[in-house]
Amino acid sequence: KDRDALRSALLAWYDAQARDLAWRVGPAERRAGVRSDPYRVWLSEVMLQQTTVPHATPYFLSFTQRWPTVLDLAAVEDGDLMAAWAGLGYYARARNLLACARAVANDHGGVFPGTEEGLRALPGVGAYTAAAVAAIAFDRAANVVDGNVERVMSRLFAVEAPMPDSKPELKALAGDLVTDDRPGDWAQALMDLGATVCKPKGPLCDRCPVSLWCAAYVGGAPETYPRKTKK
Ligand code: ADE
Repeated sequence: KDRDALRSALLAWYDAQARDLAWRVGPAERRAGVRSDPYRVWLSEVMLQQTTVPHATPYFLSFTQRWPTVLDLAAVEDGDLMAAWAGLGYYARARNLLACARAVANDHGGVFPGTEEGLRALPGVGAYTAAAVAAIAFDRAANVVDGNVERVMSRLFAVEAPMPDSKPELKALAGDLVTDDRPGDWAQALMDLGATVCKPKGPLCDRCPVSLWCAAYVGGAPETYPRKTKK
């Protein structure tokens, strides 16, 4: 089936090309089935909603060095966290971060819930973060959709409806590609594809592992997706 061929091609590409990011486990560990620590996945996702991978990385490294576990983070004074967060912007997020760490410490014995629903119930954890942590840390078949994934779907399926109206359609298309086979790697493969190949401007279709299945590529104008409403 088309879906399975597309999935295999993208997962094989990820196996060969996954970006080496501070919060990921290395390729050998990944092959051995080692999952990322939920605390590190959660922290990285919160930081990345705020900023880019290059900007977030030094913050992620210093946070995890100072506070290696969620229990360490939960014990921090508000002022110390705010100072460490300086430069990441949007301080409400830092406050939520601390509230969430304390909830995990106080209400869950320091262990992150392992389901999307359980994660969603934590303070400041929205649908995106819950899906990302469930998929990446717990290998649950969660549909992880950010702006990158929306763009990839709009191109793969040449979605003609404009953003943002098309968001539910794009999310449904992404959901159709999620299976119980390697959902954490799948989510990260889509993110990497969106970040490094299926870029907003100048997509590198000649290096794309799924161009054969991409309706926008086949149609000859991949960069014109996602469609936007004219103002
Ligand atoms: N952007 C948001 N989450 C990410 C992740 N887990 N890996 C790479 N880029 C991301």
